[in-house]
Amino acid sequence: MEERLLSSTPQQEEGEAERSLRPRALQEYIGQEKLKANLSIFIEAALRRREALDHVLLYGPPGLGKTTLAQIIANELKVQLKITSGPAIERPGDLAAILTNLQPMDVLFIDEIHRLNRSVEEVLYPAMEDFGLDIVIGKGPSARSIRIDLPRFTLVGATTRAGMLTSPLRDRFGVIHRLEYYQPEELELIITRAATILAVAIEPAGAKAIALRARGTPRIANRLLKRVRDYAQVLSNGIITEQIAQDSLARLEVDPLGLDHTDRRYLEALIQKFGGGPVGVETLAASISESVDTLEDVIEPYLMQQGFINRTPRGRMVTISACQHMKMAVPQSLLALLEPAASTESMQPTLPLE
Ligand SMILES: Nc1ncnc2c1ncn2[C@@H]1O[C@H](COP(=O)(O)OP(=O)(O)OP(=O)(O)O)[C@@H](O)[C@H]1O
Ligand SMILES: [Mg+2]
Repeated sequence: MEERLLSSTPQQEEGEAERSLRPRALQEYIGQEKLKANLSIFIEAALRRREALDHVLLYGPPGLGKTTLAQIIANELKVQLKITSGPAIERPGDLAAILTNLQPMDVLFIDEIHRLNRSVEEVLYPAMEDFGLDIVIGKGPSARSIRIDLPRFTLVGATTRAGMLTSPLRDRFGVIHRLEYYQPEELELIITRAATILAVAIEPAGAKAIALRARGTPRIANRLLKRVRDYAQVLSNGIITEQIAQDSLARLEVDPLGLDHTDRRYLEALIQKFGGGPVGVETLAASISESVDTLEDVIEPYLMQQGFINRTPRGRMVTISACQHMKMAVPQSLLALLEPAASTESMQPTLPLE
């Protein structure tokens, strides 16, 4: 897969920099107001009762701040954060080792929790519910199960696919929250804050121009900021003005709605190769050489939010507004769906490429 500028998954370049940009307290965390308001009450209540916070499940597209929130929850509770991920925990014993090493009230963060395997998940159920670990000793008729008490802890689970979680697991979370795409005004604040940390001079109109094209995602906003900073330093006096931001974003091939090269390839294929759809996600992914996961996790959520595609039982379908945005003729099949009786003379149907 080619490297995407707008990919909202973490990339190598950001190790140190990404960490420094992460807000550390709930107060510094911009946006997601409802979640923040609720969390601050739950955290305050847990602190007052000297209890562990209820388990929290965060879901939503990548780069919206799930890991950041897990860190903040631990900071606010003044406890340690242990970080792991679904695929990293291979056997039940791995999870048992992690759980028995927790300190009381600690936060355990399991990223990509939908990828836990079944046998590991079953160890997690009693741990979440009763803070206990059932261990089987011996074999055959003499085998017996003993229960080990675990310290009380808070599990923060994160996933881009809440739908892939089993219901017994989902039911054991007390707080379940979907992270939403950020509004441009919120991204503007995030960009301005990041610029201060990175010591980059940016004009409000420059921050706004970047915010409008960051597809609702803080990670992308920060990444675009860094690239625009490069252009500003090399091609100008280092100050990010609206003009510099717009020129740089155009050079980066990020369009006014924040769609990049890959998004446009997706829409082009859907409109031209597949006549607007419906087409199965595997076929579509193969035709643009991306993985199904990338389509489902990264590309499609934003296109759906923009009203550019629909997921139907028969496959993906493009919308008229996507065709308009792409300045492409609306496929015949789409017009036929809308107005079965209407004449289509005014609009040229798109012919499939092959
Ligand atoms: N609310 C926010 N305010 C300010 N910056 C934020 C906020 N949310 C996220 N960020 C920034 O965006 C970056 C990405 O956030 P984070 O790594 O928490 O996303 P994520 O949801 O865990 O993504 P993934 O699903 O890929 O793991 C962070 O480094 C942080 O700098
Ligand atoms: Mg993360």
